[in-house]
Amino acid sequence: TVPTVETDVLIVGSGPAGASAALALSTYGVPNVMVTRYSRLADTPRAHITNQRTMEVLRDLGVEEDVIAQATPQHLMGNTVFCTALAGEELGRLRSWGNEPLVQAAHELASPTRMCDMPQHLMEPVLVNAAIARGSQLRFGTEYLSHEQDADGVTATVRDRLRGDTYTIRAKYLIGADGGRSKVAEDAGLPMGGQMGVAGSINIVFEADLTQYVAHRPATLYWALAPGATVGGIGAGLVRCVRTWNEWLIVWGYDVAAGPPDLTEEYALSVVRKLIGDDEIPVTIKSSSAWTVNEMYAETYSSGRVFCAGDACHRHPPSNGLGSNTSIQDSYNLAWKLKLVLDGTASPSLLDTYSDERAPVGKQVVTRANQSIGETAPVFEALGGLAPQTPEQLWRNIAARKAATTEAEEQRARLREAIAFKAYEFNAHGVDLNQRYTSAAIVPDGTEDPGFARDPELHFQPSTRPGAKLPHAWLSAGTRNPSTLDLGGNGRFTLITGIGGEPWTEAARILAKEFGLEITTAVIGPGQEYEDPYGDWARLREIGDSGALLVRPDNHVAFRRQDATGDVTAALRDALRQILGRG
Ligand code: FDA
Repeated sequence: TVPTVETDVLIVGSGPAGASAALALSTYGVPNVMVTRYSRLADTPRAHITNQRTMEVLRDLGVEEDVIAQATPQHLMGNTVFCTALAGEELGRLRSWGNEPLVQAAHELASPTRMCDMPQHLMEPVLVNAAIARGSQLRFGTEYLSHEQDADGVTATVRDRLRGDTYTIRAKYLIGADGGRSKVAEDAGLPMGGQMGVAGSINIVFEADLTQYVAHRPATLYWALAPGATVGGIGAGLVRCVRTWNEWLIVWGYDVAAGPPDLTEEYALSVVRKLIGDDEIPVTIKSSSAWTVNEMYAETYSSGRVFCAGDACHRHPPSNGLGSNTSIQDSYNLAWKLKLVLDGTASPSLLDTYSDERAPVGKQVVTRANQSIGETAPVFEALGGLAPQTPEQLWRNIAARKAATTEAEEQRARLREAIAFKAYEFNAHGVDLNQRYTSAAIVPDGTEDPGFARDPELHFQPSTRPGAKLPHAWLSAGTRNPSTLDLGGNGRFTLITGIGGEPWTEAARILAKEFGLEITTAVIGPGQEYEDPYGDWARLREIGDSGALLVRPDNHVAFRRQDATGDVTAALRDALRQILGRG
């Protein structure tokens, strides 16, 4: 018999969810083994939009610079362009991904990081290399087959696809990060709602120098209407930039009921030609693959010692670019909890908060992504509706908007409004950053939730309310200028206070010993370790100088107090007991 491999955490899958789980666990010193079915990482671009929250996670995990070095920067993601073809007529543009001036300011105020475009085939090696460098064991060509749980752990059976034999891996916990067809989620019996295969998509990766059609309106996404190229009505393809401006990916629909077309090079080339609209441009097809768009989410993400993350729990269209972002953020939420439970600092009940906190986010993401698809319809409706029509009719409708008639003026207005409304997909800062958690690992402070002052999908609203992400403010510390977010993270709790908050730092010191927990303290104020030179922190913190915030390792606020009155040690002790499940 092949001997059993033993580890603390077995991770199935090396996509964004699995690789970031491995990276976070290894960063925190938790032994882990990651198995993945294929002998390689993602070989096509797939997910790419990388939002500020994910960049904050990557900053904490020490790989932000590696990502920036390879990603397309935010200013080159500046537009979403609607056109008949790249070389054809332009119908309108939307300033996107934080590039509308007011939204750009909001991005700068919200985070020390910038969003970027990091295709999945470049992201995965960054995450995986760093994870391995910090101790993760990666087994390529290793397929998860099944698992069994008992009181002390999980025994998974895997197949070595190179040798052909099977062996078992014994772990204390199992993370199923095995993507949209997750066998781990199925075996664990996670309840799923929704539907698989709601639409068919073809990804065509190709090389072509399209500078002349795109450099003056830099974008990540160009929607090409391509009259005549019908997929169940109107044909609209997405030309997505992979590398500026010579590597591209086209997302093209197919009728799921009929099944994917034969993906020959000739077929791929015909789609590319239609959407570029200039047959003189040399094109090299690199790959074509078919996939389906799903609309599913798990109601709970765990069962006993098995936790699922990423597409294993939420499957949705790429709209809003939330796929790999949500996957990485799932794992970041889970990793520090596993660490504290494995080292005995927290009760296993802390792990229940993973599902309590992330399942609502997953549901919201699936809903948002699907809603965004529906909200594209008015763009087409402004051009004569979605009903099947001949290419000639559609061309006439497109041309009609140029006329000097009342109808044409109304049509122009409808088109402008429909494109502007797509901000909910291409500039939804609130969707990216307004995640607020409610669970046993968050201690309410008794204040009433004032709600959001502005549309919570479009606008991020920083807050120190327990459950919210710690607001970002630039501080100074000697010659360094850290963000408030840099005070936290690193797998540790952080207590933030100001002048007059000594009782809190003293309490943190006592309780760190009592609970066997690492708690960093940060005092912000004139003459302190950290100063608030612009007064930004004072404006954002929503507490007095002597108040306190206890921030979790994932930089979400767990506990807040306005000042240092009363028995602060007892208050902080009660909070830690609740958070760590050590009642
Ligand atoms: P992901 O699917 O990335 O990873 C799953 C991992 O599990 C892989 O490493 C796989 O090998 C492994 N695995 C699966 N079963 C296993 C088993 N039984 N044993 C061992 N290992 C196993 N999103 C987007 O925003 N824009 C886009 O254009 C696209 N395009 C796209 C194309 C294709 C072809 C796919 C499949 C997906 C997309 N997506 C996308 C979706 C996006 O890729 C997805 O949201 C994230 O990759 C999710 O990350 P995960 O880590 O959860 O799963």
